[in-house]
Amino acid sequence: MAPRTHAFGVDIGGSGIKGAVVDTATGRLLTERRRVDTPSLSTPKAVAKVVAQLVHEAGWDGVAGVAFPAVIKRGVALTAANVDKSWIGTDADATFSVATGLDVTVLNDADAAGLAEVRYGAAREASGVVILLTFGTGIGSALFLDGRLVSNSELGHLEIDGLDAETRAAASAKEREGLSWREWAKRVQRYLRHVEDLFAPDLFVVGGGVSKKSERWVPLLELRTPVKPAELENDAGIAGAGLAAIERSAGAPADAPAG
Ligand code: BGC
Repeated sequence: MAPRTHAFGVDIGGSGIKGAVVDTATGRLLTERRRVDTPSLSTPKAVAKVVAQLVHEAGWDGVAGVAFPAVIKRGVALTAANVDKSWIGTDADATFSVATGLDVTVLNDADAAGLAEVRYGAAREASGVVILLTFGTGIGSALFLDGRLVSNSELGHLEIDGLDAETRAAASAKEREGLSWREWAKRVQRYLRHVEDLFAPDLFVVGGGVSKKSERWVPLLELRTPVKPAELENDAGIAGAGLAAIERSAGAPADAPAG
């Protein structure tokens, strides 16, 4: 039997699916993070097969959590922005549980990353309104009030200048359009200013792969709200997914207050 604080965490992204065993007492990964390319046809069946492969390769038989890029309500995917549309209406909890033979808890990927940053990372000491934004294939968001998650906030799809914000300001837009850090930071600035005007947050945490290069763009932002780079970088989704799984198995909601 695995110790009660250990869970397998999986982070599903537009390009890769990553998994590891996590100790939710500390947020540390206990096994090396394994990555498999997201299948080009990212249907429930294809994605569940990869998740089952990661779990079985690790020889894991405890609870598991999956961070997934969609609105997840009681285990069911209600949207599918950067994965196959056939996810919409799919019971993601059941799909992964059947494929792995484990008890699997699924939650939105940015919510998972946010839980990890609030529990172990950049927002550990923060109170009030904290907003984590992940810049990757899309823009994910996690909204917290005094450490409690308001799940599925989906702020990446705010409309700015008539466009879905993530099409202009996600990290994928930087790559796709060959933007410099400065050019891209201008778009992020416009986006964050809008979010700031709507929520008057106490803290922004910015994550996603680009948080590793935060010194290139975070200092260019001019906002009223303090901005901290995420601390868990690549591990936040995995750690947060593991945490959500442990909390559910202990009978607490995944969005229970941190600490
Ligand atoms: C999705 C969100 C997700 C984010 C980051 C967005 O396109 O709508 O659910 O959290 O991408 O993956």
